[in-house]
Amino acid sequence: MRLARTQLCLLGLATAATAVDFNPTNNTAGYDTSRIGPTNANCQRQMYRLDITSNNIQFQNVDSNANQTYLIALFQTFATSMANFTEMYEKPDKQSVHNTYSLSGTLCVPKNGAKNVSNVQFLLHGVGFDSSYWDFMPDNSTEEYSYVHAASDAGYVTFRYDQLGTGLSEHPQDAYNVVQAPTDLAIATKFAQMLRNGDIGNMKFNKVVGIGHSYGSVQTQALSAASPDLLDAVLLQGFSVNATGQLPFLTGGDYQPAVAVAPDRFADKGISNAYVINQSPYSNQFDFFYFPYFSDAALQRSFQTEQPATQGVLFTQTVIMQNATNFKGPVHVVTGAQDLPFCDRDCYAVPPGSPYPNVPSYVKTLYPNARNFSVYIPANTGHGVNAHYSAPETYKEMLQFVDYALSS
Ligand SMILES: *[C@@H]1O[C@H](CO)[C@@H](O)[C@H](O)[C@H]1NC(C)=O
Ligand SMILES: *[C@@H]1O[C@H](CO)[C@@H](O)[C@H](O)[C@H]1NC(C)=O
Ligand SMILES: *[C@@H]1O[C@H](CO)[C@@H](O)[C@H](O)[C@H]1NC(C)=O
Ligand SMILES: *[C@@H]1O[C@H](CO)[C@@H](O)[C@H](O)[C@H]1NC(C)=O
Ligand SMILES: *[C@@H]1O[C@H](CO)[C@@H](O)[C@H](O)[C@H]1NC(C)=O
Ligand SMILES: *[C@@H]1O[C@H](CO)[C@@H](O)[C@H](O)[C@H]1NC(C)=O
Ligand SMILES: *[C@@H]1O[C@H](CO)[C@@H](O)[C@H](O)[C@H]1NC(C)=O
Ligand SMILES: *[C@@H]1O[C@H](CO)[C@@H](O)[C@H](O)[C@H]1NC(C)=O
Repeated sequence: MRLARTQLCLLGLATAATAVDFNPTNNTAGYDTSRIGPTNANCQRQMYRLDITSNNIQFQNVDSNANQTYLIALFQTFATSMANFTEMYEKPDKQSVHNTYSLSGTLCVPKNGAKNVSNVQFLLHGVGFDSSYWDFMPDNSTEEYSYVHAASDAGYVTFRYDQLGTGLSEHPQDAYNVVQAPTDLAIATKFAQMLRNGDIGNMKFNKVVGIGHSYGSVQTQALSAASPDLLDAVLLQGFSVNATGQLPFLTGGDYQPAVAVAPDRFADKGISNAYVINQSPYSNQFDFFYFPYFSDAALQRSFQTEQPATQGVLFTQTVIMQNATNFKGPVHVVTGAQDLPFCDRDCYAVPPGSPYPNVPSYVKTLYPNARNFSVYIPANTGHGVNAHYSAPETYKEMLQFVDYALSS
């Protein structure tokens, strides 16, 4: 993880492209699209067309359809020499990028009635998944790994969406200058505004709890910093501010073009080479799982339904994080004790004399004015929290925080 760079002047360059509506023949979603949500909720899935402007990093010497050799060279430089990477592949100035994107979002309302219809949980998935991370089904026999199911049981409305380039959402060709973190943050910001304004399911939400996983937590954190009024509480799952584990994540994950790894799912669907996934179920295991605390079904499902991330996202992920000095709501961090990318597999490995008891607690440094800051570290759990045996217990704890956040 690299440090956020200082904001540079924007050049005013615009990229124009028209959004294409989802074409079912190009479906690469990680879920059975006939399942809209869990059995205990009334859900509606819809395509939203969002007009998005963001101040993006400009890449150079890149090509979204470069061959595999060229793409791996970028990873190699990024992982070993950040200074060289920046010099070779990034321009010093940012550029304003404006496009309309088609994004698939799903709103779920508990069948037994919501505790309070003016409260919603806004769910943002991370790299390797789509919105089905929040409705995870290792096989078709149980819904106990579905966070949406657990939230619905507890009486909560949820909204989740497929990030740009995943699931049923549009997959722009430009995997560098378009699909990257500032674009994703602008999309998350627009959806949060829509939840507040009553533009989703005709429900107007007074209180929004932002909940992320991994890169989804990075965006939630950035949203709470840049637009503190859009969120009332924040829950960051699979997150910390310690970058040590990012390098083993990237190298051990063996990211390769999705079209090369799984042509049956990705070839001839308009997905460019620089959209990457783990090379095998075992490189997915390396990044997301802690043995032996998950079922084989969960691991296989995780890989068989894995969603690509663009190199643009992988190279810009953390530039959007910043100090959320104006965020005053409660903040809760939930990171598995053996999380690889955010704890380097030991969330208790703090330096000698540390003022904090564990690695995730350092997130507090980004929230000097939070009303309450708390951390939960599920035992025997890797980065893909929702895919471990501990998930149902973790959901109970997460929902206790949501109860607290919405009632105080
Ligand atoms: C891959 O692309 C690079 C850069 O265009 C080129 O130099 C190289 O020969 C290509 N390799 C193969 C195997 O096509
Ligand atoms: C970084 O760039 C310098 C100067 O161009 C070069 O000497 C060095 O080998 C490069 N290092 C890596 C790891 O690419
Ligand atoms: C789950 O059911 C869907 C159809 O509803 C099917 O396509 C899929 O293969 C099933 N998955 C498993 C793991 O049984
Ligand atoms: C529902 O939540 C809103 C805040 O979002 C609060 O103002 C209202 O009092 C709550 N209603 C009930 C019945 O608890
Ligand atoms: C679907 O795939 C075709 C063939 O690659 C491509 O031309 C088209 O743009 C794709 N549509 C979408 C919505 O991505
Ligand atoms: C960051 O993580 C590394 C690896 O676990 C650990 O050695 C170090 O003490 C951590 N630093 C902080 C400030 O948490
Ligand atoms: C965030 O801002 C506060 C108040 O300005 C400051 O005390 C704190 O050190 C900052 N945290 C980081 C990580 O920069
Ligand atoms: C802080 O938040 C936790 C939930 O994460 C809650 O149990 C605790 O009571 C809160 N503390 C205060 C002082 O409100």
